[in-house]
Amino acid sequence: MEAIGGRRSEYAIHPMILGRRSLRQMSGEEMTDGELYPLFEAAKWAPSHFNTQEWRFIYAKRGTKHFRKFLSLLTAGNQEWAKDASVLIILVSNRFSVYKGKKSFVRSHSFDTGAAWMAMALEGVSRGYVVHAMAGFDYPKAARAIRMPNNGDYQVEAMIAVGKRRNYKGRTDEKTSQRKSIDEIVSEGYFSPRF
Ligand SMILES: Cc1cc2nc3c(=O)[nH]c(=O)nc-3n(C[C@H](O)[C@H](O)[C@H](O)COP(=O)(O)O)c2cc1C
Repeated sequence: MEAIGGRRSEYAIHPMILGRRSLRQMSGEEMTDGELYPLFEAAKWAPSHFNTQEWRFIYAKRGTKHFRKFLSLLTAGNQEWAKDASVLIILVSNRFSVYKGKKSFVRSHSFDTGAAWMAMALEGVSRGYVVHAMAGFDYPKAARAIRMPNNGDYQVEAMIAVGKRRNYKGRTDEKTSQRKSIDEIVSEGYFSPRF
């Protein structure tokens, strides 16, 4: 049993996992490439089906026309806090792999891209940044905004806000999310009625 910032795990786990949170309070500062790119580096080391590496990250730094466009894709509720991000990212997956000239559908393209997002989130949070995924945005508009090819090869998965923490002193007054218990998500042998 371990506790970090109001969260209590049933088993002792790495503090980076229990301590990661989707915070919203950001300082509105800019980020250098030196601060941002290690997050992409972390993402690229995620595992994927046959090492296909389906994830693609399209980013917009604050103060640019791209940032204003990316921000406008978000729901009003998300814009309220994401306006203080240093960087907004549109995460896209490639639904296909090409091997020896043969193109095949990769069933796990979203699963793998989710793993890359989590690697990025953990790296960012371990550096003291806010890394917050969002589904509250206009997906078709996002695809058009980044000029994603409209040939069915790619899929917009999520947007991500990255920023520096506001008033960061290792604490936050934001609400802490909790989790289902392990026996509501894990069972041996058969699908559980508790699911
Ligand atoms: C795919 C995805 C979409 C999400 N969409 C939003 C969103 O649109 N707005 C928001 O404020 N949080 C969003 N979240 C954050 C979740 O609400 C958050 O991860 C969840 O409540 C658990 O909290 P925690 O990440 O702090 O542990 C999203 C998270 C994921 C993974």
